[in-house]
Amino acid sequence: MKGVLLHGGMGTRLRPLTYSGPKQLIPVANKPVSQYVLEDLIRTGICEISIILGETFPEFVKMHYGDGSKFGVHITYIYQGKPKGIAHAISLCKNFVGDDRFVVYLGDNLLQYGIEAYVKRFVKGDFDAFILLKDVEDPTIFGVAEFDEDGGLVRLVEKPRVPPSNFAVIGVYMFKPVVFDIIKDLKPSWRGEYEITDTIQLMLERGYKVGYDFVEGWWLDTGKKDDILYANALILDERIERRILGKVVNSKVIGRVFLDEGAKIVNSDIRGPCIIGKNCVIENSFIGPYTSIGDTSKVLNSSIEYSIILSEAVLEGVDRLEESLIGKHAKVIKSSKNRRVYKLNIGDYSEVII
Ligand code: DAU
Repeated sequence: MKGVLLHGGMGTRLRPLTYSGPKQLIPVANKPVSQYVLEDLIRTGICEISIILGETFPEFVKMHYGDGSKFGVHITYIYQGKPKGIAHAISLCKNFVGDDRFVVYLGDNLLQYGIEAYVKRFVKGDFDAFILLKDVEDPTIFGVAEFDEDGGLVRLVEKPRVPPSNFAVIGVYMFKPVVFDIIKDLKPSWRGEYEITDTIQLMLERGYKVGYDFVEGWWLDTGKKDDILYANALILDERIERRILGKVVNSKVIGRVFLDEGAKIVNSDIRGPCIIGKNCVIENSFIGPYTSIGDTSKVLNSSIEYSIILSEAVLEGVDRLEESLIGKHAKVIKSSKNRRVYKLNIGDYSEVII
């Protein structure tokens, strides 16, 4: 079994952060989203993984994952460039896959319990393709499954205006190499992409054995700011243990707080679950639950909750920051002068709510 991790796409819904890096490298609990994906593939026993790169800073992806040796696996890279569709990205992996079965995992999807159980079912059932479904509130933004009266899967539609069910097709797909013959026959969709849903639909029409299962636990597609913040809260809630490696001076640190090496908390209140990265300085501040602060950031005289602060950012004198995503090296500072003015120097597509 091999693994294919999709790291391309444009990430337009996560601007401005995607002007300086691919969306899948945005951290959740101080770890890139796509690293959770990689680790999930590794947990299933897969050790040959190809990462598909897009046009947005592919060199950062290579720098982070390298040849895979630090994760105990072998990673190679395939350059897709423009996002011509998930099926197009898969078509580039023909040589890498060879005669093996493989799992395709979108680099921005997170599953509470991982994929191991489903991969076993795919192999055991000797399916040609296997997909995972999850009931969602708004199916119109996903690929959606349609069933017949006996509950059999009959059709898949991409982002339908009138959804045939509430079951979204999540971003994990398993295939035998026969899928490459199917992709050859695809035509681009109305949005100009070679769609994964059309691929599986064609497999159904041609009588291939397509299996499916319903995902247990939560599933998140972290394509937007609110989804990233929600994923951060869920991961902090479930996976962070109390661990104080940094220094705490005259402060209250309550609950499941991970304070990384070299970090320093002075005259502050910290309430878990939260994570504070290496060499951070937190002074005269309140860090509330569901907050992740990246390495070497500074929070002075401020109060933050339910937010992600990337590395080397500075927050000073900010009374109450919530539901915020602050990029690397960004500064949010309250003027010490008494004039009540806002002075902004923010990138394209930034959002400031005051
Ligand atoms: O998240 C599940 C959904 O993912 C499915 O329900 C849909 O059927 C499927 O089409 C896909 O929908 P999205 O519109 O959310 O796909 P998006 O364009 O956001 O791309 C998903 C991931 O794949 C993202 O990490 C970027 C990567 N990608 C995407 C395209 C189109 C590539 O690497 N190359 C591509 O060409």
